[in-house]
Amino acid sequence: MARAIRTQVAIVGAGPAGLMLAYLLHRENIDSVVIENRSRDYVTHRVRAGVLEQGTVDLMAATGVGDRVKREGLIHHGIEIRFEGEGHRIALSDLTGGRAITIYGQQELVKDLIEARLETGRPLWFEVSEAHIEGIDAQAPLVRCVKDGERHEIHAEFIAGCDGFHGISRESLPAGLRRVYEREYPFGWVGILAEVAPSSDELIYAYHDRGFALHSLRTPELSRLYVQCDPHDTIDQWPDARIWDELHQRFAMPGGWVLREGPIVEKSITPMRSFVAEPMQHGRLFLAGDAAHIVPPTGAKGLNLAIADVRDLAASLVDRFRHGRSTALDGYSRRRLQHVWKVQHFSYWMTTMLHRFPEDRDGFQRQLQLGQLRYLVGSRAAQTSLAENYVGLIESGPA
Ligand code: APR
Ligand code: PHB
Repeated sequence: MARAIRTQVAIVGAGPAGLMLAYLLHRENIDSVVIENRSRDYVTHRVRAGVLEQGTVDLMAATGVGDRVKREGLIHHGIEIRFEGEGHRIALSDLTGGRAITIYGQQELVKDLIEARLETGRPLWFEVSEAHIEGIDAQAPLVRCVKDGERHEIHAEFIAGCDGFHGISRESLPAGLRRVYEREYPFGWVGILAEVAPSSDELIYAYHDRGFALHSLRTPELSRLYVQCDPHDTIDQWPDARIWDELHQRFAMPGGWVLREGPIVEKSITPMRSFVAEPMQHGRLFLAGDAAHIVPPTGAKGLNLAIADVRDLAASLVDRFRHGRSTALDGYSRRRLQHVWKVQHFSYWMTTMLHRFPEDRDGFQRQLQLGQLRYLVGSRAAQTSLAENYVGLIESGPA
């Protein structure tokens, strides 16, 4: 016999999307149950994204979960684009009427949201297994799962699929309705966390004949660095010395520039893909975040897109529960996909401008990339376009 529990919204996945949705709904007195298949320790320690758009930080501050990000987040007003041995600053804030980005690890945001959730006393179940979604075409959908060896049935009015790219929600939409758009890139990133003060105050995106490199950071004592690699590489092909050597070469400037080295405390390979599943809703099921879309990380958009999804979804659900109106909820997928494709385009543009393509044998694409980069650093209009996308496009909500 399964134990039954009743709630308004069943949320599958306790990443940024699921946790933020639960938090926003709670603020409006809407009940939810959040289920997560990993442990609390796992989700708060996995190293992921680290750039928050202005809108993401504003939402956190406005809803009361922004104290720590305000205290500990590092505000950046510009980024550097480096190629042919020269650095060029894109003055994000000057170009966007004062908007900025904040450096704050995704796992820090996840920690804040877990604490906020636990304070509400509403359910957040870790280490559940066998999650399964049923009845999304009916009035009363449900999520089945196993927790502590016991079967549970979560009866809800709506289900939010916030379970990331490898989750089960997307496949719960009827196969005949689903459409997937996808591009895989012929490269990946080796990412490291190094215990050393960042070598620059701002992020550096470097285009180099040996491939792309990115200098980022987490704290004043912790650098985050990436190098373009072959997508089939395994991490044992990248001993620490090789990573540092590539980083030194790709960031080199004729006048000299010092990349500080420190002990590497985390290292992994990230594949690069663009992916969109549509629609993002069917019947009583709504997808948000990586469950519905993946962007290549060159624009730093994945996390922000997940938060933008649930901001819209929460507002639409509130309209439904409070006022009995379904108009906003009905338009969720349409509105979100319009925004998602703009962000897909920006991420694709950054990615294809900054990486070396292995198939570019005659160098045609390299010349195009250099043409694009020179145009970018010489044109205020082009820089404004990059800047407004990078700090986050202002989108219209459900109302
Ligand atoms: N049942 C329960 N939970 C699941 C299941 C399942 N079957 N499958 C996956 N999950 C959990 C994952 O363990 C993960 O904690 O769902 C969560 C999804 O979280 P994320 O992958 O972080 O996705 P999302 O919340 O959409 O946030 C997107 O994550 O990948 C990064 O760069 C991306 O920053 C972006 C962010
Ligand atoms: C990061 O700090 O992890 C980071 C920064 C910028 C990106 C991607 C990742 O574009």
